[in-house]
Amino acid sequence: MPAPETSVMSRLVSLCKRRGFVFPASEIYGGLNGFWDFGPLGVQLKNNLRDAWWRAMVECPPIGPDGKPVSIVGLDSSIIQHPQTWVASGHVGGFADLMVDCRETKMRYRADHVLCVNVQYEKAGQTKELGGWISTLEGDEAEVAITKKAKKLIQKSGCGEMVPFDMSKAVNLTTMTEAQRAHVIGPDAENPGTLTEPRAFNLMFQSYVGVFQSDDSKVYLRPETAQGIFLNYKNVLDSSRVKPPFGVAQVGKSFRNEVTPRNFIFRTREFEQMEMEFFCAPEDGMMWYEFWVAERLRWWEEQGMSKDNLFRHIIAPEDLSHYSKGTSDIEYRYPFTAPGFGELEGVAYRTDYDLTQHQTFSKTNLEYIDQEANRRYIPHVVEPAAGLTRGLLALLCESYRYDESRASPEWLKLKPSLAPIKVGVFPLVNKDGMPEVAEKLYADLRRTYISQYDAKQSIGKRYARMDEAGTPFCVTVDGDTLKDQTVTIRDRDTAQQERVALDKVKAYIGEKLAV
Ligand code: GAP
Repeated sequence: MPAPETSVMSRLVSLCKRRGFVFPASEIYGGLNGFWDFGPLGVQLKNNLRDAWWRAMVECPPIGPDGKPVSIVGLDSSIIQHPQTWVASGHVGGFADLMVDCRETKMRYRADHVLCVNVQYEKAGQTKELGGWISTLEGDEAEVAITKKAKKLIQKSGCGEMVPFDMSKAVNLTTMTEAQRAHVIGPDAENPGTLTEPRAFNLMFQSYVGVFQSDDSKVYLRPETAQGIFLNYKNVLDSSRVKPPFGVAQVGKSFRNEVTPRNFIFRTREFEQMEMEFFCAPEDGMMWYEFWVAERLRWWEEQGMSKDNLFRHIIAPEDLSHYSKGTSDIEYRYPFTAPGFGELEGVAYRTDYDLTQHQTFSKTNLEYIDQEANRRYIPHVVEPAAGLTRGLLALLCESYRYDESRASPEWLKLKPSLAPIKVGVFPLVNKDGMPEVAEKLYADLRRTYISQYDAKQSIGKRYARMDEAGTPFCVTVDGDTLKDQTVTIRDRDTAQQERVALDKVKAYIGEKLAV
């Protein structure tokens, strides 16, 4: 068991590995940076979150601001689309990060993630500069990394004592002048001036279709699921009984060759998104934008996120993309951003930009003909775009608890309906007729709820295993069960046990899960 002093993230990452939520991809070959695999508990939790989103979007969308039920349909489009898609969407020309290479260490960094501090030292009562900006990657370890490196350099050159620095005054590499950058010691380097000038690096993964590898056969793995929705907007309109306002929702994998994937599954190179494009009349765009921001915040809270850990970050007008009339990021307070927040979902009012671009590039008319109002227009779009893998991370962070007084100090307070295993079923001891009753109960419960039978080791250890998996209920068959046909049901959050009649267990769990 790691000591509680270790950071929440490192404890969470090791719990995820130990209990089969998340594994590093290709681990037996040394791993592959930016790729992760989801184990038995992780895939179930991820599917449950995905299903809750699908239910709230497609199966039972909310009531809209006009008092009418919102209409949203589903879609599952190809990961690889016609390459012109990404020219029209702007991804071929503009989907790039500024990155720098380090000539000394051969490492590559996203320029906007490199933080630089001009450390000073004191010798014989005088304060002097070290002669190089010390840099590190932003994150909760940044201050520790800068201090460690500064002390090492000061000691090596026999300079004196380090003067304490203020991390909030650290400078982002992208905001520095070329002259200043020439004195930066790269995050993993020893010497100043080894970072290259920031260069644009397109984030799309490329591949080739067919046997010949040439520019003509070049395709891209989609960097977002959204464009597949725009390409099918007309198909959906022509084939389903929908008309604006309506939405098209899609969940699926997206790929971005991120320069610096990090923070566990926060920023990865392969990830899942849950995106919905909501098509409406131009004059209603702003109303739907506000509606979806509020609705998405409400939904994340419904999944168990505390209000305090969620934040609406309204993107300043001067920072908006040229086509957006409003964008809000729904942010979550991850342990590595605390006390600040990091993006969980973006809600953007994208106007008619995407459909107009695809109309121009494909030469297909994408106007909607409103026969009742006798007008035609290209619908405006409001897009709530959430990360499924990032949502899974937020759920894990939100539910992680550490409490020395419990059988398992680490446990997950997941919303019961999202928990990968709903019920643990145990015979108190593996004899005296208890296993037979417990097995029968398990056989019945598993038809309705994902259940796990466990008869190994002490009852305390079995509760601990279930707590770590976030299982909300544990049912134990004991000596009294054989006499009065009752069992105990232990509640994960309170660790309290209640006696319930054997034939009422299923209904009891059903009631609790419905909340
Ligand atoms: N269609 C709009 C779009 O894709 P985005 O803000 O780039 O917008 C939406 O992505 C969401 O997808 C983000 O809020 C985040 O949750 C998730 N996401 C984006 N890049 C990611 C990455 N590299 N790893 C994990 N999740 C990512």
